[in-house]
Amino acid sequence: MTNKKNQDLMDKLVSLCKRKGFIFQSSEIYGGINSCWDYGPLGVELKNNIKQNWWKSMTQFRDDIEGLDASILMHPSVWITSGHVESFADPMVDCKSCKMRFRADEISGKKCPNCGGELTEARQFNLMFKTHMGPVEDEASVVYLRPETAQGIYVNFLNVLAPSRQKLPFGIAQIGKAFRNEISPGNFIFRSREFEQMEMQFFIHPNEDEKWIEYWKEERMKWYLSLGIKKENLRFHQHDKKELAFYAKTAYDIEYNFPFDWKEIEGVHNRTDYDLSRHTQATGKDLSYFNDQTKERFIPYIIETSAGVDRTMLVCLVDAYYEEWVLNEERTVLRLDPKIAPIKAGIYPLVKRDNMPEVAKKIEDKLRPHFKVFYDEGGAIGRRYRRQDEAGTPFGITVDSQTLQDETVTLRERDSMEQVRVKIDDLVTILNKKIWGV
Ligand code: GAP
Repeated sequence: MTNKKNQDLMDKLVSLCKRKGFIFQSSEIYGGINSCWDYGPLGVELKNNIKQNWWKSMTQFRDDIEGLDASILMHPSVWITSGHVESFADPMVDCKSCKMRFRADEISGKKCPNCGGELTEARQFNLMFKTHMGPVEDEASVVYLRPETAQGIYVNFLNVLAPSRQKLPFGIAQIGKAFRNEISPGNFIFRSREFEQMEMQFFIHPNEDEKWIEYWKEERMKWYLSLGIKKENLRFHQHDKKELAFYAKTAYDIEYNFPFDWKEIEGVHNRTDYDLSRHTQATGKDLSYFNDQTKERFIPYIIETSAGVDRTMLVCLVDAYYEEWVLNEERTVLRLDPKIAPIKAGIYPLVKRDNMPEVAKKIEDKLRPHFKVFYDEGGAIGRRYRRQDEAGTPFGITVDSQTLQDETVTLRERDSMEQVRVKIDDLVTILNKKIWGV
C-alpha cells in the first residue's frame, strides 16, 4: 500500500520527468487528457533504448526468433475469435452519489472509496476501444484498436514460418502500441489507455510446455537484471485459477516493488493451442505444424512473454532514482544503466575562454557518430554535472587547462563522482567498454 514516503517519491519522480523532459501529460495546454502520456526528448531516448535492447536480445542475439510489425487495426472477426469481444472485460461499479467509477475487484467493502456512497451492482465493461473504418459509422464498419499485439502474430504464423524456414520451437517477436479503455488508469505511466507492448510468442510441441515456460520465466527475469534492476525489487507471482486470463493454462507475472505496491510488469503465459485452434476453426485455414522428421502434425502450443514498454520504463526510473548528500548539498541522481541512459556523456569546457569551448566542440564532433552526447558550457561546472546527474547521464568529459597542453580530459563517473584523466584519442574505446562492455 502507498504510504506518505512512497507517495512523495512518486511525486518527485513525476516532477523530475516533467522538468527534465522525460514525460509530459498529453495535451497539457488543453488541461491534459487522463491516462495518456507524451515522451519528451530524454523520455523517447530512454524508451527507444529499452525497446532496442529487448529487440536485440530477442531477435539479433538468437537465431530462433523472427521479428514482425503487424498493423494496429485488424479484421474485427479476429477479436471475436480470440475471445476478446466476449471476455476481455473488467467488473465495474459506479457510485450512486459522486458518480465515480471503480473496478469492482480493486476495492474492498461495499461502499464508495471516495465518498462512502452506495455502489451499483457490478457489471462487465469491455476494455476494447471501438472505432469505424471508412466513411459510414454503422455496425458493419466497427473495428477495434488492438488491446494486445499478440493476435497480429498468431494470424501471421504461417506467413512468418514459410519464408523464415524456421522449425519448432521458434518464436515471433513484436513491439507495438496497444489500447485498453481501463476503468481505473493511474500511477503515472503504470496503467494508461494507450501503451506499448513488447511481446514474443514461442511456438512449441504441446508436450514441452512445462519446460519452455520455466525457460522463458528465467530468461525474462535475467533481462530485467541485465538492465541493472535490483534483484530484491523483482519477483514472480503465479496466477491462481481466479486470476488466470481466459486464454491461459498457467501464467506467471514478473512483479516489481513499485512505491505503490508490488505490481505486474510482464506476463509469461502458457496459452496452449487456444489461439491457433480458434483461428483455424474460424477461418478454415489450417494453422497446424508438420514435423517432417517425426511425421507428426499438431497445433503448436504457445508460450508468450508479454512486457510493457512503459512499465519497464517506470521500473528503470524508480529503481534508478536516488537523493543523496554530497559536500553539504543534496544531489538527485538517476543511476540508469549506461546501456539505456538517454545521453551517454556530457561534454564541458571548464571555462568559456582560452580555446576550451573549441576543443570541447571538437570532442563532441568526434563522439557524436558513436554516442548520444550533450555539450554544455553554461554555469559553474558543479551545476552542469548536477544537471546531467538528474538526467541519468553516466559520464562527464571536462576540458581544462591541462587539456590544452597534453590532449587529455577528465572523465567523471556519475555514480561514484570519481574523475580520471584520459587521452582524447582513447575516449571512444573507453566509453564503448564502459557502456557496452566491449
Ligand atoms: N498478450 C498478453 C497480454 O496482453 P497482459 O498481462 O494483459 O497480457 C501484458 O499485458 C503487459 O502489458 C503487462 O504486464 C503490462 O506491462 C502491459 N500493460 C497491460 N495493460 C497496460 C496498461 N493499461 N498500461 C500500461 N501497460 C499495460
